[in-house]
Amino acid sequence: MQSLPDNLITLAVTSPPYFNAINYDGHRDKLNGKTDHWERTEVSYDEYRDFLKARFKELLRITQPGGHNVVNIAPVLWQGKRTALPFHFVGWMEEIGWTFKEDIVWEKPVARDRRSGLLLQHPYPGYYYPSLVAEYIFVFQKTTDSKKRDNIYARRSKEEKEANRIDLSDYQGEKSKNVWKIRPMAPQENLHPCPYPLELVERVVEFYAYKDDLVLDIFTGSGQTNLAAEKLGRRHIGIDTAKEYLDYARERLNAQLHQGRLFNSGDSDKEGLPRAA
Ligand SMILES: C[S@@+](CC[C@H](N)C(=O)[O-])C[C@H]1O[C@@H](n2cnc3c(N)ncnc32)[C@H](O)[C@@H]1O
Repeated sequence: MQSLPDNLITLAVTSPPYFNAINYDGHRDKLNGKTDHWERTEVSYDEYRDFLKARFKELLRITQPGGHNVVNIAPVLWQGKRTALPFHFVGWMEEIGWTFKEDIVWEKPVARDRRSGLLLQHPYPGYYYPSLVAEYIFVFQKTTDSKKRDNIYARRSKEEKEANRIDLSDYQGEKSKNVWKIRPMAPQENLHPCPYPLELVERVVEFYAYKDDLVLDIFTGSGQTNLAAEKLGRRHIGIDTAKEYLDYARERLNAQLHQGRLFNSGDSDKEGLPRAA
């Protein structure tokens, strides 16, 4: 991010790493056959807060005025206790300078969590632990000066708006509300340990970015954000520290492009090039 100029991107979408829940180094060692198991690592909550704040501060710098930053986040177990990470996170983001806009609940119609079984065994007050079937999708915006009309949405031409008209045929059902029911990915569908579904990020990209706008995922993992952006004709950048995940993302992106060419045999090679920056 440090190499990118100020006010570059229109939309950021991401799901940050949970260092205490997923040990990505361990997971990659397992992928590479170096170990047959991987375990959690312990990072202090303060260290984790500083890690996130540093990155989202830099993200604010490279986001255009009015641009959005959409973050998928959920409470996690920290030293045996369920922590209110999403709610602390909103405070940290506001301290950095992001404006809070929306809280969307991502409800998973199929979830394997069975916490609620405890009350079946002990049907008494004090034994209620609901199954965890939801995560949050928080939307933040880079504040703008409304008088200056420097907001990226204000300066779109009528033609550009028309070319980006959103299909609202299934809008009134669920998309118009702040609870989205989307099936999570099954482990065999993606090599990454915690990908978010394509449908989720496609909604976000359609709602907040115009065609050819630049979309960034600062923890892109298997590249679901890049795949969605590519499919919807937005340019995109994905950042991750794990080469294995980036190789996998690139492979899937190329497969998607190849498929596009097969369906659209009139396309030139140039048109088939990825929009990845
Ligand atoms: C929750 S996952 C993102 C999954 C992604 N949304 C997807 O659908 O595949 C978080 C990612 O952050 C990456 N990561 C961890 N530390 C990082 C860092 N310092 N900078 C960039 N990426 C990092 C991990 O390798 C992991 O792929």
